[in-house]
Amino acid sequence: MNPIRVLSVLAALAAPIMIAQESKKETYRDAKAPVEARVADLLSRMTLEEKVDMVSGGGWMESKANARLGIPAIKMADGPVGVRNWYGPSALTMRANSPLPTVTSTAFPAGVALGATWDPDLLHEVGKTIGQEAIALGRDMMLGPGVNIVRAPLAGRNFEMYGEDPFLSSKLVVGYIKGMQGTGVMATVKHFAANNQEYQRQTIDAHIDQRALHEIYLPAFRAAVVDAHVWSVMSAYNKLNGHWCAENPRLLTETLKKEWGFKGFVVSDWLGTHNTAPTANAGLDLEMPGAESIKRLRAMNVPQGPGDIGQRGAVLTPELLMPEVKSGEVKEAAIDDKIRRLLTAMFANGLFDHPKPGGGQVDTPEQRAVARKAADEAIVLLKNAGDALPLMTEKARTIAVVGPNANVARTGGGGSSSVKPNHSVSPLDAIRERAGSAIQVTFAEAMPQAAELAGKADVAIVFAGDSAEVEREGHDRESMDLPAGQDDLIQAVVKANKNTIVVLNAGAPVGMDRWIGQVPAVLNVWFPGEEGGPAIAGVLFGDTNPSGHTPITFPHRIEDSPSFGNYPGTDGVVNYAEGVYVGYRHYDTKNVEPLFCFGHGLSYTRFEYKDLKISAHKTTLTVRNVGPRDGADVVQFYVHPLKPSVDRPVQELKGFRRTYLRRGEAVTVEFPLDSSMFSWYDGSAKKWVADPGAYELRVGSSSRDIRLKGNYELK
Ligand code: GLC
Repeated sequence: MNPIRVLSVLAALAAPIMIAQESKKETYRDAKAPVEARVADLLSRMTLEEKVDMVSGGGWMESKANARLGIPAIKMADGPVGVRNWYGPSALTMRANSPLPTVTSTAFPAGVALGATWDPDLLHEVGKTIGQEAIALGRDMMLGPGVNIVRAPLAGRNFEMYGEDPFLSSKLVVGYIKGMQGTGVMATVKHFAANNQEYQRQTIDAHIDQRALHEIYLPAFRAAVVDAHVWSVMSAYNKLNGHWCAENPRLLTETLKKEWGFKGFVVSDWLGTHNTAPTANAGLDLEMPGAESIKRLRAMNVPQGPGDIGQRGAVLTPELLMPEVKSGEVKEAAIDDKIRRLLTAMFANGLFDHPKPGGGQVDTPEQRAVARKAADEAIVLLKNAGDALPLMTEKARTIAVVGPNANVARTGGGGSSSVKPNHSVSPLDAIRERAGSAIQVTFAEAMPQAAELAGKADVAIVFAGDSAEVEREGHDRESMDLPAGQDDLIQAVVKANKNTIVVLNAGAPVGMDRWIGQVPAVLNVWFPGEEGGPAIAGVLFGDTNPSGHTPITFPHRIEDSPSFGNYPGTDGVVNYAEGVYVGYRHYDTKNVEPLFCFGHGLSYTRFEYKDLKISAHKTTLTVRNVGPRDGADVVQFYVHPLKPSVDRPVQELKGFRRTYLRRGEAVTVEFPLDSSMFSWYDGSAKKWVADPGAYELRVGSSSRDIRLKGNYELK
């Protein structure tokens, strides 16, 4: 008998049972009943077929609905920095022949820019605002934040992440998730785990020792689960130590669900699954996208790259999963756990009681204001020799604005995180707006004319750096070089006018050695979102005092980076041979001088650190703004083990505080001390170890601008 016939016979046999079940009180429909009771009641009413059916997606960005029981679909959308259209690859919509509505929303600064703010409270506002816009657009779940650690400078999605340090990423991700989930929209922390490059991202096998995994690559995910109670975790495409992440029981069940107590559900990355029973048994709870979407995409014969989504299908469809359940390979209890997790998240977030109809407003003045505040705080003043900035209008009567990134708003990087903003303003237009009629602003995009205009101007500002075509999902960069011709352009301009400022869109390390010595001032604005233009103009003219601090190290050359020689891997395997020595942990321990160090960022004012006091449970110091203007500083707290029992990084970030101080104002900053700040992970004993003994506590305005030190004896 064909499987469909079997299913219909089973359904007929089950009918009387279901009728009997319907008769008992429908607790699951009672909005006042506890979530656990509603879940248990609804689960008891579902047939095995209905439960198995719910484990695989219903559309490109929706889970399966169940009309009989009134279970809605979970409506999802990318991404970490704003609501992106959820219709899927354009090919899926082309078939529809009816143009789908364009989805626009507020485009926030890229992850690395948010990382540069060192401001968990701001991340809370960003997460909350994106949650509000998701509700306005009728979506229940956002596919963000991304918290993969920046391991290799050339990795294509570095711009999407919060940088190279697990402590900073952990504090920021908690703010973002709490803000978003406070609106009733589920966040999805991704990509779990070790998706640290795009090269062969769908197949690469990341070999990472347990110590590096627990000290570097897992902490931000653990914080998302344990401290922010994230509702969803997205499994990564790649393998981790030989097992696909989507079917990795040590990752998804042992670590995530048992050790960390994760109560939400694991969703696959899109078409990131491979084997039916292993995936179901390892702890994946929802496979995306729906099989129908995959079939339509394949039917479109959309040109695909090797390993692209069109070559693979879903593995948790009922046709494939039910036989595994019937055979006992996959226990029904495992299916029940998946459905229990999904239903718990759905009841807890109002999907049954307060469905989100959409049709609301996005990109409101209040929402734009959050994007602007994020851009203001993200901009990093990397260099400012001779106080070239801020521009003094009396000395800048003519400003030559030049370069390929001047007359375009580079709001974000490329791929699933990209957002179509309602509006954006290019740096050129923002500068013209800010300068007013008293200042002449000229513009040229390229070389000879740019140099000529620079020669005639009081100040030249070169807008250079990457774009969404260079830093994007699915693609790693070939080198740290700026796009072709930009180094030459900068050199030509600064030769024509020594008073040249460079403004970069760089979501990851770029090489600057060819001109950094000649250029008096450099800003990195990352990908600053839709409000980037006005934010840049505000910093250039001094309306805003820059306060960003880079969350990634800028090496002089790729050969200096810790993963060099062990990236992007060979024969399908990438070996994280550097272990815990990622980012500044490498440069500081191996005494490799970077171009700009982790935590670096200048200000238009100056901050003085004094009165470091260290007691058993806290460290305090006084920070005073002793400069000419109000401004914010990021006080950073590092721990240096003096007699470690194992090889350890020379220092690690264990605290930070962003402080806004008016001129002359002082504040006492406090960092609590607990054993976790002194611990390292013993991979063989599978536990954290805090060696008693002597440590040096360091406070500075960057990892290499250490201003106060003191000794501490851990008992
Ligand atoms: C992509 C990305 C993931 C995104 C998902 C849905 O391949 O890896 O970040 O959320 O698919 O677009």
